[in-house]
Amino acid sequence: MNAVVVFESLWGNTAEVARAVAEGIGPGTRVLSTSEATPEVVAEAAFLVVGCPVIAFGVPTQQRLEGVRSEVGRAPSDPDLTQPPLQQWLDGLAPGTGRCAAFDTRVRGPFGSASPKILRALERLGYRPVAKAEAFQVKGKYGPLRDGELDRARRWGQELGRQAA
Ligand SMILES: Cc1cc2nc3c(=O)[nH]c(=O)nc-3n(C[C@H](O)[C@H](O)[C@H](O)COP(=O)(O)O)c2cc1C
Repeated sequence: MNAVVVFESLWGNTAEVARAVAEGIGPGTRVLSTSEATPEVVAEAAFLVVGCPVIAFGVPTQQRLEGVRSEVGRAPSDPDLTQPPLQQWLDGLAPGTGRCAAFDTRVRGPFGSASPKILRALERLGYRPVAKAEAFQVKGKYGPLRDGELDRARRWGQELGRQAA
């Protein structure tokens, strides 16, 4: 199965989850940032998994990332702001017929979500979900991931791989 995990990650937490999910799906699964996941690469994928951090209660947009820019220097490390925000990547995504899944990373609490919105956007484009939108939690605003979350991401990936096959 040609599977691709696409992620946006500012501080690396979502990237770690994306790699663990890909490991669970199985060998050959590619893990690509929003700048690497070109329309050509995505068009070839039979299974597309998409993930991002929750920023300002939702999917990262240019506007939401302005808020992140204002934190540069105050955060424990600098965010990677070189990738297109996930919303922009989704807006440029062509219709598809493959299977799909979505996840986000976030703090614990009722502070918004991103994965349900990603999944709805993918469905509107014709992709068919194999699982409910998933979330993985970090300990603080900038991470790290809570204990056990990478194992859970790997197991989730295994289940996705079975469902998508
Ligand atoms: C500027 C900023 C805004 C955030 N806003 C939210 C939020 O609204 N809701 C939430 O659950 N988590 C929020 N978080 C926590 C991030 O979603 C979390 O740390 C995420 O794992 C970061 O992923 P990354 O390391 O891949 O960038 C925010 C973090 C930052 C730095």
